[in-house]
Amino acid sequence: MVPSSSSALERFLVHLEALFSISINDIRDMISRFHEDMQNGLADKDSSLKMLPSFVDVTTGREQGKFMALDLGGSNLRVLLVTLNGKGATEVSAVSKFAVPEQYMQGSGTALFDFIAECIHAFALEHHVDPRKPRNLALTFSFPVNQTAVKAGTLIVWTKGFTATGVAGKDIVRLLEEALKRRQLYGIHVAALTNDTVGTLMNRRYSDPSCDLGVIMGTGTNACYREVCGRIHKLKSPAPHDHMIINMEWGNFDKLYQTGYDQNLDALSVNPGAMFLEKMVSGMYLGEMVRIVLMDLIQSDLLFLDTPDVSSLFEKSGGVSTAHMSEIQSDQAPHLDKVDTFLKKSFGVGSRVQDRRALQRICQMVSTRAARLGAGAMAAVITWMDPQLIHPHTIAVDGSLYEKYTGFAVTIADTLKALYGEKADALSLVQTQDGSGVGAAIVAAVAASSRRQA
Ligand code: BGC
Repeated sequence: MVPSSSSALERFLVHLEALFSISINDIRDMISRFHEDMQNGLADKDSSLKMLPSFVDVTTGREQGKFMALDLGGSNLRVLLVTLNGKGATEVSAVSKFAVPEQYMQGSGTALFDFIAECIHAFALEHHVDPRKPRNLALTFSFPVNQTAVKAGTLIVWTKGFTATGVAGKDIVRLLEEALKRRQLYGIHVAALTNDTVGTLMNRRYSDPSCDLGVIMGTGTNACYREVCGRIHKLKSPAPHDHMIINMEWGNFDKLYQTGYDQNLDALSVNPGAMFLEKMVSGMYLGEMVRIVLMDLIQSDLLFLDTPDVSSLFEKSGGVSTAHMSEIQSDQAPHLDKVDTFLKKSFGVGSRVQDRRALQRICQMVSTRAARLGAGAMAAVITWMDPQLIHPHTIAVDGSLYEKYTGFAVTIADTLKALYGEKADALSLVQTQDGSGVGAAIVAAVAASSRRQA
């Protein structure tokens, strides 16, 4: 006979699986709400989708030039030298990576921008780049920025754990240029300001004319796509071209059913009340969601029954990462030995096989929901551009979640197939790395060539 605690555990897990499941009808509903918010965002009406103009159209693949690129969007900052040869090919001749200490992510804006200038200086020294010589810098700043031109824009709000003070509402390009001057890096001029999604789309588009959607699924999540300027009603002055890339900031989409666990996670985050989709989909939050669900099962006396005072071991945020979840999900051993080791190492908890299985199922439900919502968001943008799915579309995707998480990319592809049947063959999802380096350089080159044409 099955002991009563394990049937109670099974009942709880089945209830959770239903709670976290996203049906194809839910996705259809999500798509129509997405379209409403896209429409409102483009018209500057109240909307959870900010739909931010980028002031560039896509590359022709023929732009050329040499650029320095700077990529800030998470806990690492990169500086690169990129050459575009004008025939769809690109080369990165130097790159340095710096960890951004929490004191700068969450300190004063001036200290953060001085740190960025210091990294550029260190890069110049390491790679023998003369910082006094004129050099164009393409800046990828992967946060919501209200752009007014290709090289001007104010930060709307920080995301992904950044809280540096005195930056929201300010022009990012000016803040960086002032810091460059303080560091006496007089030769470096910002030529373009861009979002990582825009860089990702551009990078793929440089050699693939069917790419019209760029998606990030990593620490954060977001997308950009190519819009007809006539539909961007909020543009204040006539656009210089027929199309423009729109940075959607889809991580803030909020027309979704939130479970009590989502509400808990939101309340514990540094930005409560914002970025609902990002908190359900992106790598920064999935592990935390698993921990919060685990806590509920522990407090209901359903898990780790042999360990006294076990809930205190799981109390602290951050104990489960997305990388752990992926490992846990990939464990196929009969006794889930990897899961056992994880629980021992990270939490000092001994477990029974049924505890480990429960943890594996929680990871599965949280990550499957994330991938299905991600697919729903992609589908919403594709059908906005091409309601009947007549044209081929390449979707350039970057981010560790998409690239590394066990089964994530497959679930997205399966969900698109379930939505569209054979028509899904018109969609190719292509992993595209380094939009924030090479892609940003392409943005700067496109901006320079449209200035020349104007
Ligand atoms: C930011 C976006 C960014 C995304 C992926 C989100 O938190 O708001 O601007 O594109 O993360 O890096």
